[in-house]
Amino acid sequence: MTLTGNSAAKDSAVCRRWRMAGVRSQHTNFERPIGACPPVPRQARAYAATIRRQQTRRLNCPMSTRTNLLPANVYAYVLRQTREPEVLAELRAATSKVPHNVMQIGADQGALMALLVKLIGAKRCIELGTYTGYSALAVALALPTDGTVIACDVSTEWTAVGQPFWRKAGVADRIDLRIGPGLETLDALLAAGEAGRFDFAFIDADKPNYPVYYERLLKLVRRGGLIAVDNTLALSGAPIIELGSRSTHAQAMLAFNELACKDERVDEAMLTVGEGLTLLRVR
Ligand SMILES: C[S@@+](CC[C@H](N)C(=O)[O-])C[C@H]1O[C@@H](n2cnc3c(N)ncnc32)[C@H](O)[C@@H]1O
Repeated sequence: MTLTGNSAAKDSAVCRRWRMAGVRSQHTNFERPIGACPPVPRQARAYAATIRRQQTRRLNCPMSTRTNLLPANVYAYVLRQTREPEVLAELRAATSKVPHNVMQIGADQGALMALLVKLIGAKRCIELGTYTGYSALAVALALPTDGTVIACDVSTEWTAVGQPFWRKAGVADRIDLRIGPGLETLDALLAAGEAGRFDFAFIDADKPNYPVYYERLLKLVRRGGLIAVDNTLALSGAPIIELGSRSTHAQAMLAFNELACKDERVDEAMLTVGEGLTLLRVR
């Protein structure tokens, strides 16, 4: 994506500040640079426009892969060997008729996230970026009956697609949908005294806000809990190291990776699953 004029200058200034902050400190306070800048695409329409521009450049990227990280035949094999619950497959089929469906996570990533949730015995989860609700449903299905996932998104239209499937799966009561900017929801949770009360978090929303989401989640997730971060290697099938300066979102992810890699507050592993999934265990 090529931005022009003021917005390009402002966005690249944000990224420059992140990079500089990352070099200076392992415990960077991301909030000041972000707060001082004009809002990056925060609403669904602006977000969708960015995705549309990326998709236009990647017309050959098939919907279900979300990545060029693996050879197509290898990834097709992975999908064939992945156990996808029927209700998730139905939601995927319904989402295939929705614009921007390349944003949906793959079945293999859903299975991995469900496994992680079970492995750490998670009960309280939160996600930034719900879209039509696939990741929220995959996580909810892995939770015990008294578990919850707070699902944050700005779009009522997209999240409405998933809700019948949440009900069909019998887990609608485990998914607490919060419509509004994710940052406001995280701040409200912190203000309500929820620090340290979450076991698992998933970041899959507007890329330039990843650092601020991450800082909030470091407070909300308990020690030993897990933060999973999506798109750390690719965006709509395009590797971020190739998109580089042509994409504000790619620059945001490159800067985020630098910072997460150096952050002593977490254990880190970068997985080549989906479009790159970084796991950060809170120390
Ligand atoms: C990549 S999609 C999420 C895909 C989803 N995790 C799934 O499994 O299908 C990103 C979502 O982030 C949402 N979003 C964009 N900006 C946001 C913001 N500021 N706060 C909350 N959600 C936002 C978009 O509306 C979009 O639905």
